[in-house]
Amino acid sequence: MNIVFLGAPGAGKGTQATMVSERFSIPHISTGDIFRQNIKDRTPIGIAAKGYIDRGQLVPDEVTIELVKGRISEDDCKNGFILDGFPRDVAQAEVLAQFAKIDAVIDIVIPFDKLMKRLTGRRVCSKCGESYHVDFLGDVSVCSKCNGKLIQRADDTSETVQQRLDVYMAKTAPLIDYYQNSGLLKDVNGDQPVSDVFKEIIKVLE
Ligand code: AP5
Ligand code: MG
Repeated sequence: MNIVFLGAPGAGKGTQATMVSERFSIPHISTGDIFRQNIKDRTPIGIAAKGYIDRGQLVPDEVTIELVKGRISEDDCKNGFILDGFPRDVAQAEVLAQFAKIDAVIDIVIPFDKLMKRLTGRRVCSKCGESYHVDFLGDVSVCSKCNGKLIQRADDTSETVQQRLDVYMAKTAPLIDYYQNSGLLKDVNGDQPVSDVFKEIIKVLE
């Protein structure tokens, strides 16, 4: 099954895609995670993407589209994949339709006014990328899965989050109508505990 996860920044795409990936044994492909890894490794893709990501802008299509195309042509995607963060606008969706058949689009819906707190309070593992939130961390500062140091993402400052939310409204939100019209869109309530969001997604997919 080839799945796309839609949803505003902070809706819980990464959290849920990780769990769904384990459940269905299909890879979780997050363009944001791939860019961050490339930035860490100082690759040409990372160098090209960094300025855009730090400003909360979309990375240009000529970088992003080839990257996704290459990734989903790899062997581990033969039985399906989960795209998290791609497509991000209608132009990317139109290109995606030319090289992959999408079976379902999950839109994780959450009230817009809750996103700022979710993102500025997020901490991620510097080693494995697992997401946490300060509200539930107490004085813990290492990852419960791999013991890596928890850090704040460079684009999770309030100013950059606001910019990302504006970009989402202008460019990504129109994808809701796009996928609604193609009959693939399934809404899931993202404003409930992580395990309940997961249950709803599994129900929709099964
Ligand atoms: P990307 O990494 O995709 O970021 P994003 O879309 O802004 O989404 P996030 O990763 O911030 O949020 P999420 O929905 O994954 O939420 P999470 O599960 O972590 O992209 C980053 C940048 O890369 C972009 O700005 C752009 O520059 C570039 N980029 C990426 N793709 C691109 C593309 N296709 N084209 C061009 N540029 C591209 O959860 C958030 C927080 O909430 C966490 O703290 C989590 O613990 C908590 N949480 C999750 N679920 C719940 C819940 N149910 N209840 C309470 N808390 C919860
Ligand atoms: Mg994410």
